[in-house]
Amino acid sequence: MASDDTRPDPGAATRRPPSWIPIRSLAPRHRPRILAHLLALPDADRYLRFGQATGDSQIARYVDLLDFDRDEVFGIFNRRLELVAMAHLADLGGAHGGHAAEFGVSVLPRQRGRGLGQRLFDRAVLHARNRHVDTLIIHALSENTPMLRIAHAAGASVHRAGPDAEAVLKLTPETLGTHLEALLESQAAEIDYGWKRQVRRVEDLLAVVGDSRDDRV
Ligand SMILES: CC(C)(COP(=O)(O)OP(=O)(O)OC[C@H]1O[C@@H](n2cnc3c(N)ncnc32)[C@H](O)[C@@H]1OP(=O)(O)O)[C@@H](O)C(=O)NCCC(=O)NCCS
Repeated sequence: MASDDTRPDPGAATRRPPSWIPIRSLAPRHRPRILAHLLALPDADRYLRFGQATGDSQIARYVDLLDFDRDEVFGIFNRRLELVAMAHLADLGGAHGGHAAEFGVSVLPRQRGRGLGQRLFDRAVLHARNRHVDTLIIHALSENTPMLRIAHAAGASVHRAGPDAEAVLKLTPETLGTHLEALLESQAAEIDYGWKRQVRRVEDLLAVVGDSRDDRV
C-alpha cells in the first residue's frame, strides 16, 4: 500500500529530532524495499539525488546493479518497516589519489528536516573511516541547500561549477573508538529492526483476527 511518507510534513521543521536513530546496513534481500523507497521520490527529488531526470526503469536498473560487496548501503525503517531514508556509500577505490568513496542519500519528503539525512551522513563517515577511506565525495546540485549544509558542517570544501557542486571531505583515520561506535550502532539497529518485525507480526495477526471477526458479523 502506498505510504503517506511522500507528502511534505509542515510540522517537521519545528519537531525535535529523535535522540537516537537506528541505521541498518542493507543487503541484497532489501532490494525490493530500496526500489519502493526510490520510486516513492517525486521527480524533483530524483533529479536532486541522481543529478538528472530519472525514470522508473533507470531506478530499477540502479537498484539491480547495487553492489553490496563493494559498497555499503544504509537504511532507516519506520515501524511499518518501510524504508524512509537510505544512503549509498559507493567505493571509488583510488579515484582521488587515496581511497575515495561517494555518498548519495535520500529521505522521503514527509520525514525531512528531522536530522535523518545528517545521521545517515555521520554513519557513512564512520563506516568510511573504518574502511580506510580518506576522501568522501558528494555530488549535489548547487541549489541543494540541505545536502550542502550537511557537507559544509562536516568541514568539506565545496566547489561549485554552475548548477553542479562537488563537496570533498577529508576523513581522519579510524580509531578503536570508531570501530566500537560502529559495532554498537549496528547491533542496536539490528535489535530495533527485530523488535519492529515482531510488532508488525503481532499487528498483522491482530488484523487477521479482526477480519475474521468482521466476517462473522
Ligand atoms: C538532502 C536530504 C537527504 C536531506 O535530508 P533531511 O533529513 O531533510 O536533512 P536534515 O534534517 O538532516 O537536515 C540537514 C541540514 O539541512 C537543513 N535543511 C533541511 N531541510 C532544509 C530546507 N528545505 N532548506 C534549507 N535547509 C534545510 C537542516 O536545517 C540541516 O542543517 P543544520 O544542521 O545546519 O540545521 C533530503 O532533502 C533529500 O532526500 N533530498 C532529495 C535527494 C537529495 O537531494 N539527495 C542529496 C544528493 S545525493
